[in-house]
Amino acid sequence: MNATPQTAGPDASAPGPSADSLGISAAQARNAVLEELIAKDPKQFRVLTGDRPTGRLHLGHYFGTLHNRVRLQDLGVELFVIIADYQVLTDRDVADNLTEHVEELVLDYLAIGVDPARSTIFTHSAIPALNQLMLPFLSLVSVAELNRNPTVKDEIAHSRQSAVSGLMFTYPVHQAADILFCKANLVPVGQDQLPHLELTRTIARRFNDRYGKGGAVFPQPDALLSSAPLLLGTDGTKMSKSRGNSIALAASADETARLLKGAKTDSERHITYDPATRPEVSSLLLLAALCQGRTPQEVADEIGSAGAAALKKTVTESVNEYLAPIRARRAEYAQDRDLLRQTLREGNERARAAADATLTEVRAAMNSHY
Ligand code: TRP
Repeated sequence: MNATPQTAGPDASAPGPSADSLGISAAQARNAVLEELIAKDPKQFRVLTGDRPTGRLHLGHYFGTLHNRVRLQDLGVELFVIIADYQVLTDRDVADNLTEHVEELVLDYLAIGVDPARSTIFTHSAIPALNQLMLPFLSLVSVAELNRNPTVKDEIAHSRQSAVSGLMFTYPVHQAADILFCKANLVPVGQDQLPHLELTRTIARRFNDRYGKGGAVFPQPDALLSSAPLLLGTDGTKMSKSRGNSIALAASADETARLLKGAKTDSERHITYDPATRPEVSSLLLLAALCQGRTPQEVADEIGSAGAAALKKTVTESVNEYLAPIRARRAEYAQDRDLLRQTLREGNERARAAADATLTEVRAAMNSHY
């Protein structure tokens, strides 16, 4: 896998949709309010978020969303983590090595501290009632709305398929079912997922208006945006599994060192933090800073004129030190296939119960309860 070089895509280096067309500033403003509510009463929140099983998770995922999930779980919020196995088929014909990828994700989740006793890890192909929600949901959105989705447009541009499948086109509606089947009201996501969340809110609102008989069947979930700025891959473009420029959580210390040694920097010797003019150097500084719990400026000042080699050495040490306990736990869990399978079995059971209850309500609301 990972065979398609995607840096040459038509819009790989274009600035992409503007912040406001994605609703980023509004979501950021809402974040502070949400954090206060979470601190006050975590029990009123149910979080759903997840990933496609296409390979191991990397540092971009970790600082972008994964560690936020564990933080929320540990604050007492109920957490559902979806392994979006059907969604793998949005941009490829077959889902290769699916079982292996699903297990890798479960390992990553357990290693970073998702606790299966408190949180629900599940695969959406195992939850029939979740998938059935997609049908009424599709009736609530127009083709024009699906056509406008900037994230889908971007994914189509990077797709491995010559023709756009119906699943690619409708997957944001499927994602609304992923979120609404358990009535999640909080979704920690990266900026690229904001259009999907907006559509989820629209679907919830329209369903309630059309079938709710004055009440609300579905909540309108909020996005919780990560506060960490985007990490770049070792080649200076967006860190992504498919671009071969990412550092996996599961990578060995040596592999990490090798990848970072080859990371792109620039020709200016003195190290400064300036994301606008020095994106590659600044992303490395940010990575070290996130691992060390300091600011990127502090890390930059410390390195100063010691140059890029010193920077890479610092980043490598910080990453390897930070990930050491996660990697150790991961290696332990990897020995215990029964635990992996049990985690998924129990998670799927819990998710099925939630989905069945919601579908029963939906049928009643739609007067199709026979
Ligand atoms: N589409 C998401 C991604 O590619 C994964 C995902 C599927 C998801 N269902 C979700 C994320 C529901 C948040 C909520 O990363």
